[in-house]
Amino acid sequence: MMLFWLILLAGFSLTASLDNGLALTPPMGWLTWERFGCNTDCEHDPKNCIGENLIKAMAHEMVDGGYLEAGYQYVCIDDCWPSKERDSEGRLVPDPKRFPNGMKALANYVHALGLKFGIYEDFGTKTCGGYPGSEFYLQTDANTFAEWGVDLLKFDGCHSNPKDMDAGYEAMSLYLNKTGRPILFSCEWPLYQSGSMTPDYDAIRRTCNMWRDYGDINDSWDSVLNTIGIVAANKFNQSSYAGPGGWNDPDMLVVGDFGLSPDQEKTQFAMWAMFAAPLLMSNDLRSISSVSRELLLNTRIIAVNQDKLGVQGTLLIELSNIQIWNRPILPKGSYAIVVLNRGEGGSAARISVKGQQLGLNDPKGYALVNVFDGSSMGYLTPTGSLELSINPTGVVMFTVTLKQDTTLHFVRYNKT
Ligand code: GLA
Repeated sequence: MMLFWLILLAGFSLTASLDNGLALTPPMGWLTWERFGCNTDCEHDPKNCIGENLIKAMAHEMVDGGYLEAGYQYVCIDDCWPSKERDSEGRLVPDPKRFPNGMKALANYVHALGLKFGIYEDFGTKTCGGYPGSEFYLQTDANTFAEWGVDLLKFDGCHSNPKDMDAGYEAMSLYLNKTGRPILFSCEWPLYQSGSMTPDYDAIRRTCNMWRDYGDINDSWDSVLNTIGIVAANKFNQSSYAGPGGWNDPDMLVVGDFGLSPDQEKTQFAMWAMFAAPLLMSNDLRSISSVSRELLLNTRIIAVNQDKLGVQGTLLIELSNIQIWNRPILPKGSYAIVVLNRGEGGSAARISVKGQQLGLNDPKGYALVNVFDGSSMGYLTPTGSLELSINPTGVVMFTVTLKQDTTLHFVRYNKT
């Protein structure tokens, strides 16, 4: 029976995904790393150190701030949570000072709020922060995470050989599956291989629900722009591997932090929606501005990100500082489009673009909606022109949907 399905699936262009029923759309949630790093100083900085208080506080913010309702479900701890030593039976132990009630109690707490609980480990001998890694303990750790009630595992690749990752990540994926608990598997495998070898994206998609292709993002425009550039280059054609069950991960959202202007925050959010990227915020939801919060809760942009077709957007046109990205979405024949102005300073860029240049070839024409505020941007035919003004380091983002015949008649009637 299994063989039958494998043969059947081989007929499809998209590789079979990890079949654990998870990540049918890009995962959404919150992760400690970019904002809170490896701050273990709970004595002097109790509100911001990696410990149960931070996770509990952020879990409450996710519910009270409307994030859970908008789709942000996973609350995740990154590196620096364990004790430096395993217990006498080789099991990982959370730092007892910072997690005095243990991980199971914390997972229960998070679950009781309707959220899911994520944790971090590393395939190598140590995590990037120097804590015990999973090498030689893969199955023990998978079982420990399942016992704790973990729903997502981010699996890093420091202190290991990239050549061992094909076998290692597959083994961990199997061990997670064997626990019987659905655990979303977030891998860093291609990131570590991309410098010296060609990552096997077929295998990666079969093994992981999301995978980091690029280096770490930080809270700056340079970093966001650099990441967009690497996605645009699409060196290994990895964009074609995104789809229900498995997603390319360009790393966390830094919307709501310190480094981006309001335009740049819109750019990151819009682009991550185009990338069908996991939306994992790393910010302080206790003190986020209302502007950033509203952006993160924008239902139209989230709908693009979560579009069930699951096709990753790609770069359509690049002309000097202007990039035009397009992503097919449902209903059939519709697209999300982003026009990005990478230029810094000066005045807004003005462009005129024809429908057909955007890939809009249906003579019936298309209705355009600005996704930031939901306003209509009118209609566009393949030969009609669209005039746009795009702020420096900003974007214009809209959806285009095939126009109904009735509307077309109405518009024609009005024009003549
Ligand atoms: C690596 C990862 C980051 C983060 C840190 C933690 O750099 O790429 O996302 O998990 O390790 O040490």
